[in-house]
Amino acid sequence: MTTIITGGRGRLGKYIAKEMSNAIIPPHTELDVTNRQAVFEFFAKYKPDTVIHLAALVDVRESQNNNEKAWKVNVGGTENVVDAAFAVNPNCYFIYISSACVFNGERGGYTEEDVPNPVNYYGLTKVVAEEAVRKLPNHLIIRTDFVERTKWRYPGAYIDRFSTCVFSDTLAKALKGVIEKKVTGLIHLTGKRKISHYDLAKITTPEVQPIKLKDADIPMPQDQSIKSIRGWDNLEL
Ligand SMILES: NC(=O)c1ccc[n+]([C@@H]2O[C@H](COP(=O)([O-])OP(=O)(O)OC[C@H]3O[C@@H](n4cnc5c(N)ncnc54)[C@H](OP(=O)(O)O)[C@@H]3O)[C@@H](O)[C@H]2O)c1
Repeated sequence: MTTIITGGRGRLGKYIAKEMSNAIIPPHTELDVTNRQAVFEFFAKYKPDTVIHLAALVDVRESQNNNEKAWKVNVGGTENVVDAAFAVNPNCYFIYISSACVFNGERGGYTEEDVPNPVNYYGLTKVVAEEAVRKLPNHLIIRTDFVERTKWRYPGAYIDRFSTCVFSDTLAKALKGVIEKKVTGLIHLTGKRKISHYDLAKITTPEVQPIKLKDADIPMPQDQSIKSIRGWDNLEL
């Protein structure tokens, strides 16, 4: 069995790599998903039967300020990876990591049956990329939310922004279980507890400062907590 992980050196990928030590994990410098020809050549060489597609422009602010780049990487890159996987193995098991950011965050508690309605460009690119993935018969789209179990990346964290976020090491372990079960379709793989970003940040970074969403300079969903009618919303932090 051959598994390729794109974007596997990032904040989630490095924990997945620990769980799946036999996977082929090209760094960005070796495989740029926006280079269609390079992606096709790479997939033709390794002929994967499983693909975990993580590569993306994840920075919400950068996506908002550079729509062209966000579209190229998140939508165009996903189309390239999907098409290359299909070309070598139409029945390839294709796992795409999407985001709770596809919802507008007005009420929270979104399930797999709710219709996405993103408030920012990053969320939009993730929804459109999901559609590209649906071309493959054997796909799994996972909407989730995570942070690393390390120091909070910013000086402040929102007291009035909520999610069912988990730590990326927890998510990577859960993801391995999901993949072993060969789950397909769409799932919300997420934490059992809704928490504010501030309370989450304080776990690793007690000195983090409380900030409010009204001070954000880009649109952010206020309550992007998600639930799973398929039973995947039971992760501990
Ligand atoms: N972080 C979250 O809160 C969150 C929540 C839900 C879903 N997700 C999704 O989960 C996935 C992983 O996110 P993450 O937080 O681990 O992000 P990350 O740390 O930014 O990792 C993304 C990876 O993609 C690579 N990459 C970027 N552009 C690329 C390109 N053109 N070709 C090939 N590789 C490229 C990056 O490499 P370089 O760093 O070398 O550019 C990096 O290794 C993404 O699809 C993201 O949308 C993230």
